[in-house]
Amino acid sequence: MMEVTLNINKKNYKLDVDDGTPLLWVLRDELGLVGTKFGCGIGQCGACTVHIDGVAQRSCQTMVIMAEDKEITTIEGLSENGDHPVQEAWEEIDVPQCGYCQGGQMMTASALLKKNPNPSSEEIRMAMNGNICRCASYNRIEKAVATAAQKMSK
Ligand code: FES
Ligand code: FES
Repeated sequence: MMEVTLNINKKNYKLDVDDGTPLLWVLRDELGLVGTKFGCGIGQCGACTVHIDGVAQRSCQTMVIMAEDKEITTIEGLSENGDHPVQEAWEEIDVPQCGYCQGGQMMTASALLKKNPNPSSEEIRMAMNGNICRCASYNRIEKAVATAAQKMSK
């Protein structure tokens, strides 16, 4: 066991964890931040996506020790009142079906728009490519990312 301090959604948490514990386990099991989902557990689906220093990362593949001294943001911390342009666009376009993948989708989309505020359709598809949706809401995801980009440019 080792003690780590994690900065998550602008709050510091001190935790005793085993070496090699994935960040996803800590988020869900220790801290109850269950908006970040466990899908495949092997870096293939994107359901567990969070931001680490503003970059979209797979929390199932990030050991807590790698996340120390970094700013971690989960879907719960994306905005204070669910009013991030990506969240608003998601609601407007009515993207989710079962919803399971959607936290990860929004974290990938918001990281993309931070880096590239005006992405082409091709760039949206490329960036969202690693986030799997078993309900196949891909067309609406693409539309919502474009809508969020428009909102952010106003
Ligand atoms: S649960 Fe992390 S990528 Fe699937
Ligand atoms: S909305 Fe069901 S998995 Fe994406």
